[in-house]
Amino acid sequence: MTQATELDATAAETGANATKVFQAKAKAPTAGTNQERVAELATEVLAAIHDVIRRHELTYSEYDALKAWLIKVGQDGEWPLFLDVFIEHAVEEVVNADRPGSKGTIEGPFYVPGAPRADGEVTLPMRADEAGTPLLFRAHVRSRDGASLPGAQVEVWQADDAGFYGQFAPGIPEWNLRGVVIADADGTVTIRTIQPVPYQIPHDGATGQLIAAAGWHAWRPAHLHFKVVAAGHQLLTTQLYFAGGEYISNDVASAVKPELMLHLKPAADGNGNEVSYDFVLARA
Ligand code: DHB
Ligand code: FE
Repeated sequence: MTQATELDATAAETGANATKVFQAKAKAPTAGTNQERVAELATEVLAAIHDVIRRHELTYSEYDALKAWLIKVGQDGEWPLFLDVFIEHAVEEVVNADRPGSKGTIEGPFYVPGAPRADGEVTLPMRADEAGTPLLFRAHVRSRDGASLPGAQVEVWQADDAGFYGQFAPGIPEWNLRGVVIADADGTVTIRTIQPVPYQIPHDGATGQLIAAAGWHAWRPAHLHFKVVAAGHQLLTTQLYFAGGEYISNDVASAVKPELMLHLKPAADGNGNEVSYDFVLARA
């Protein structure tokens, strides 16, 4: 049998990996939520579902289709994918509503803690023949009062040029296109990577079935994911997109914000493109 490559990725395998990664980092399911709050939230979620059923006069065949679909989401391990695509953006909006500084957005299902750390001008771990347009990404990390934050950590993760994430699709080296970069004395990081491309969420499983059945699409605009943290400041989880790029205005995950745009310029060294961004962190 030949070795599987990322092009053999399935939603079920990606989902199973995402489920394992989430379970390894998640707290106990009820941590920090008291009985009153659980009762209030659960009652209202159920009431909202009952309301839809009544208003649309659900049939038994629709109810059975829903039941079969929910079972399949679980069997394929697709809950992290489904929830982060269709629900997380509202949670992020509420949690960060009053937060000053740079905008955050969803983490998504493909963050893995523990990426290799490096400082100076960093090339993200990548294969010798990594496909894609070279991208030089520079960021200045500062506090809201303007002070640079030397030693800040800028963690980046992204899909490759075919739209696959290492550790979730087969055949990609473990930390490919993932790294933690430490800001220099000026609070700056300089990262060489490849330009991400528009990306279809895994769509050959239950999530894709729903998307197809509803006549939606499975695309996200090209994006880089970040976690930025500095001593005395709140962790910023965000993504950056490319102004004018495809799917910017119809992201399946509803995670684009106008403040999160990068503007590509041809790289000064003639090798691909370059972009820069300011990460402004809120005090802890
Ligand atoms: C999903 C994938 C992503 O790359 C992302 O940024 C958000 C969500 C998903 O498949 O659920
Ligand atoms: Fe992503």
